[in-house]
Amino acid sequence: MKVLMTGGSGFLGSEMCKNIVEAGHDLRVIDDHSRGRPARLEHFGDKIELVDGDVRDPDAVRAATEGCEVVWHLAYINGTRYFYEKPDAVLEVGIKGTLNTIEAALDCGVRRYVLASTSETYNEPTHVPTDESERLMIPDVTNPRFSYGGGKIGCELLTLHLGGFRGLETVIFRPHNFIGPDMGFEHVIPEIVERIVKMSDGLKKTEIDLPIQGDGSETRSFCDVRDGARGAFIAGEKGENGNIYHVGTEVEVSIRHLVESLGRVLGVTVNIIPGELRAGGTPRRCPAIGKLRTLGYEPEYSFDQAIERAAKWYADYHLEKAGAAG
Ligand SMILES: NC(=O)c1ccc[n+]([C@@H]2O[C@H](COP(=O)([O-])OP(=O)(O)OC[C@H]3O[C@@H](n4cnc5c(N)ncnc54)[C@H](O)[C@@H]3O)[C@@H](O)[C@H]2O)c1
Repeated sequence: MKVLMTGGSGFLGSEMCKNIVEAGHDLRVIDDHSRGRPARLEHFGDKIELVDGDVRDPDAVRAATEGCEVVWHLAYINGTRYFYEKPDAVLEVGIKGTLNTIEAALDCGVRRYVLASTSETYNEPTHVPTDESERLMIPDVTNPRFSYGGGKIGCELLTLHLGGFRGLETVIFRPHNFIGPDMGFEHVIPEIVERIVKMSDGLKKTEIDLPIQGDGSETRSFCDVRDGARGAFIAGEKGENGNIYHVGTEVEVSIRHLVESLGRVLGVTVNIIPGELRAGGTPRRCPAIGKLRTLGYEPEYSFDQAIERAAKWYADYHLEKAGAAG
């Protein structure tokens, strides 16, 4: 079976390529590499056909979709900084990219269309752990921050009520905080690891005081990207038509526990200094994954295993950078 993935040279896409190739599918990837990197796919050799293209370009998307039975649509502009700096592009890539991929899928006789959405669509949940029935919301439409989550709400609607209504099988998966090496720099783990490495003078000091935003009682769940990719793959491959699946782990941890655990992994005792909490932060977030479990999914990597792998990659990165500069 031939399948197309958009955004396949990104963090999650390149991991999911393994699941798709291992399942024996013939994979084509389209990406403009604005955040992704072709090097992430080099080890697949000719098992992946890589097309350089922009999902905003309907002709490029149409050509890439030709002959495919399934479309996995992951391309999107991530990174909190960009939500403020270029909300227009976030919405344009989000909405045009989704419309173009759905229209191409309909034109080319694609059977199934799978959309990567996000937990940001429900923003601050009414219940935790949060299942797929949670209402979606944009807390403040005048705030460009919500170009990301608001755009994804539009993408979910287009998937279900345009693509689905016109005859595509549709599945939506919502990743919850996938982590791992090379996940980008705009995330709490890369940020905290960089600060621990710098404040400990390259991990030479064994104890540091670390100011953080708030008192660390906010919670999140952190899912190893290898589990996340497998979960997303299972959702898209086996999920029921017209359904949404939360992907992540149900292990809810406080930011305080995360920061102390990152210190432990790096051999530094971190004394947390509570600070001002930034406005608009979501106090708790953790998915319920029971629906995905019914399809046979179970996370394999623990919180400790997941953060150790990510933290060591970022610590090595900063230590090498400092070594090269010195
Ligand atoms: N990683 C997570 O924890 C997480 C959480 C929630 C949602 N998601 C969603 O999963 C998907 C993949 O996320 P990721 O973490 O791999 O992010 P990423 O930024 O690493 O990957 C996105 C990919 O899309 C590509 N892209 C961006 N604009 C494009 C365009 N105009 N045309 C073609 N390609 C374009 C980028 O180059 C990149 O390779 C996204 O839709 C994201 O919103 C991920």
